[in-house]
Amino acid sequence: MSIASFPPGTRVACYPGSFDPVTNGHLDIINRASGLFDYLVVCVLHNPGKEPLFTTPERVQMLEQSCRDIPNVVVDSYDGLLVDYLQKKGIRIVIKGLRPISDFDFEFEQALMNKRLNNAVETLFMVTSTTYSYLRSSLVKELARFGSFPPGLVPVHVETKLRERFRAPERQTPLETGGSGLA
Ligand code: PNS
Repeated sequence: MSIASFPPGTRVACYPGSFDPVTNGHLDIINRASGLFDYLVVCVLHNPGKEPLFTTPERVQMLEQSCRDIPNVVVDSYDGLLVDYLQKKGIRIVIKGLRPISDFDFEFEQALMNKRLNNAVETLFMVTSTTYSYLRSSLVKELARFGSFPPGLVPVHVETKLRERFRAPERQTPLETGGSGLA
């Protein structure tokens, strides 16, 4: 299903995030939210507060592979403001997962700012399942960096990507860093 071809009148929601990488906690929200709407668009966006480990195409690919058995989920990405993406796609509803305590201030602020930017946007919060309430991508990456991969945190194919990434970290060339290459 392409994002351009939603039949008119269908109820569509957007689940935005950095998904660096997608975790089983995200997939729990995706599974539950996709049951509430005709279509759920999972959109990879840039969080200026985070330096991503995976490129946007890599994050999209991991999401697509994780969601391939959920027929009404579409994965997309956007380089810009969430409200601009929603406007372009004609989507009004934003789904966010809420973990106990840690997420509240950040998510509340974002929801209010998005509403300030476009009053038509409504953010709906879904409480995370207790199984995943402690889970976040940055913690998964921190463990992976030290060679720890507890089962059940991410899909197997995501764990494979993490293992690859930390076994052979890419070295930046002087051209990429813009430096002279001289220490
Ligand atoms: O998974 P994250 O990192 O908590 O997701 C945050 C994200 C990517 C949804 C947020 O940073 C975002 O909306 N980025 C796009 C830029 C934007 O719209 N910023 C203004 C938010 S009020």
